Amino acid sequence: MLLHIPGVLDATQLATIRQLLERGRFVDGRLSAGMEAGQVKHNEELAGDAPMVQQLNQIVMGNLVRHPLYQGAALPHRVAAPFYARYTTGMGYGDHIDDPVMGQGDRYRTDLSITVFLNGPGDYEGGELVIRTGFGDQAVKLPAGDAVMYPSGSLHQVAEVSRGERLVAVTWVQSLVRDPGQREILFELYQARERLLRERPGAEETKRVSRTYINLVRMWAEL
Ligand code: NI
Repeated sequence: MLLHIPGVLDATQLATIRQLLERGRFVDGRLSAGMEAGQVKHNEELAGDAPMVQQLNQIVMGNLVRHPLYQGAALPHRVAAPFYARYTTGMGYGDHIDDPVMGQGDRYRTDLSITVFLNGPGDYEGGELVIRTGFGDQAVKLPAGDAVMYPSGSLHQVAEVSRGERLVAVTWVQSLVRDPGQREILFELYQARERLLRERPGAEETKRVSRTYINLVRMWAEL
């Protein structure tokens, strides 16, 4: 499933983030890449020891993890601390899949990849995130503050930036539900439940759908 998550960050938060990133030290993105991905990766990432990392993570992750679409679709178990990537003119990231297991110490399986767009589509040309799906290529370039979530195992690339600068935060999730098909069924039911809880609170069918959802999560969740 490829999911657009709108409005993760608002304009004030984006301005703060960009101010913080302007002061940060960026390093070659190949330092954080696996051997195979390193051959096609050409970008810069905020140094992990940069003093503003914690503040950035608080704003970005604080908002992402509270987003109802993210909660319902990802069913997150573990979430990675994000990377802040910058692509200037001539940079891109060739076709690759993401590493299956990440993290130092606290390791997690990467079920889902998330890109949060930190500047707008007018700020750069090129730079689309292209995800190769069974239904063809999907080129994604979203407004600042929006995010896209997609399976970490799908082949994807970032097209070369031909003008300007592309700023994103990227992170990964280990889901409570490993199977993408089960996760999709749960997301459908989650959305129906949310609507019923809003529009028909207390109704018998609302209670039944709600209980079914909760018990299906229990049946399929792995910890
Ligand atoms: Ni990737």
